[in-house]
Amino acid sequence: MMKAIIAGTGSYLPKNIVSNDDLSKLVETSDEWISTRTGIKERRITNQETTTDLAYKASVRALESSNIKAEEIDLIICATMTPDNFMPSVACVVQEMLGAIHSAAFDLSAACTGMIYAMSIAEQFIKSKTYKNILIIGSETLSRILNWEDRGTCVLFGDGAGAMVLTASEKSNGILASTLYADGSKNSILTCPAIPLDNPYNRQSKNRESKIKMEGQEVFKFAIRSVTKCIKDVLQKADLSPDEIKYIIPHQANKRIIEQSAKYSNIPEEKFFMNLQHCGNTSAASVGIALDELAKANKLNTGDYIILVGFGGGMTSGAILLKW
Ligand code: ACO
Repeated sequence: MMKAIIAGTGSYLPKNIVSNDDLSKLVETSDEWISTRTGIKERRITNQETTTDLAYKASVRALESSNIKAEEIDLIICATMTPDNFMPSVACVVQEMLGAIHSAAFDLSAACTGMIYAMSIAEQFIKSKTYKNILIIGSETLSRILNWEDRGTCVLFGDGAGAMVLTASEKSNGILASTLYADGSKNSILTCPAIPLDNPYNRQSKNRESKIKMEGQEVFKFAIRSVTKCIKDVLQKADLSPDEIKYIIPHQANKRIIEQSAKYSNIPEEKFFMNLQHCGNTSAASVGIALDELAKANKLNTGDYIILVGFGGGMTSGAILLKW
């Protein structure tokens, strides 16, 4: 049976490092508060590059490590909630920048679960033999939708991009199981409005700001429940036990969410990879950046089982289990 395997990974972070101490000059906060509540020490905040620039740079690296040429890509999916335009999509502009002249391209909105949704969609196209090579990107400039006066949210996020190339293979490795969820009934706990509906027939307030608002503790509870459930789902689908898993790469939102998820999943915390201390929460980019860091650090061997798991606005959640 045709499987989707990861042929290469890449990531890119903007150069500008913003530490917790730097943030304490903007809002009333401290390194101590941010570190103990979240595990985050610093994040990258773009001072020039756009979501498209970050996406392009991560994609170039993913293509290089895959040995697949841009012209051989059949589809580009970019997961983002901070696109540079409503139109054209980030994916279409990246297609042009890469010279991926034979690919279809679209953006996908599933907030922080975007990369997991994109991988699952790509897997269906590969399994059905519709496409052979698919470039997936998660790219965000969350700094543009943060309220920089709200200490409850502005300290949590960072900018960055992760990418991977999935390719068709008849080998036994690749994506073995996936699961996706959405619970729209909780949509109000994590929000960022788009432009208001303002036309000659419906005048709405122009004061509606496109900024992130969050009920932190509700998101916290949702995250732990979702991560635990999604991990259990993919283990069951792939008929594997937690002992057989080498790494779990969770969405990098918060150290305490990851610790609690490990506890409720009954899986040792050491198996949960964390890089949020230097990236912050990069939303749809986070899982891709983390996977690339693990791969580039030579911590993954052929045959290792790994789980990628995410949760985010919507509220969405999902996981992928793959054999490296
Ligand atoms: N620095 C100092 N004090 C702060 C800060 C800050 N940056 N932020 C909030 N506080 C204060 C609050 O004002 C409050 O003060 P008060 O008691 O005087 O009113 C106090 O700290 C406690 O505030 P809470 O919001 O109750 O803090 P909590 O313990 O819940 O921690 C946090 C907040 C870290 C956001 C937590 O709720 C959390 O981890 N939630 C998960 C949400 C998350 O990680 N979201 C990421 C984005 S969502 C996603 O990726 C899907």
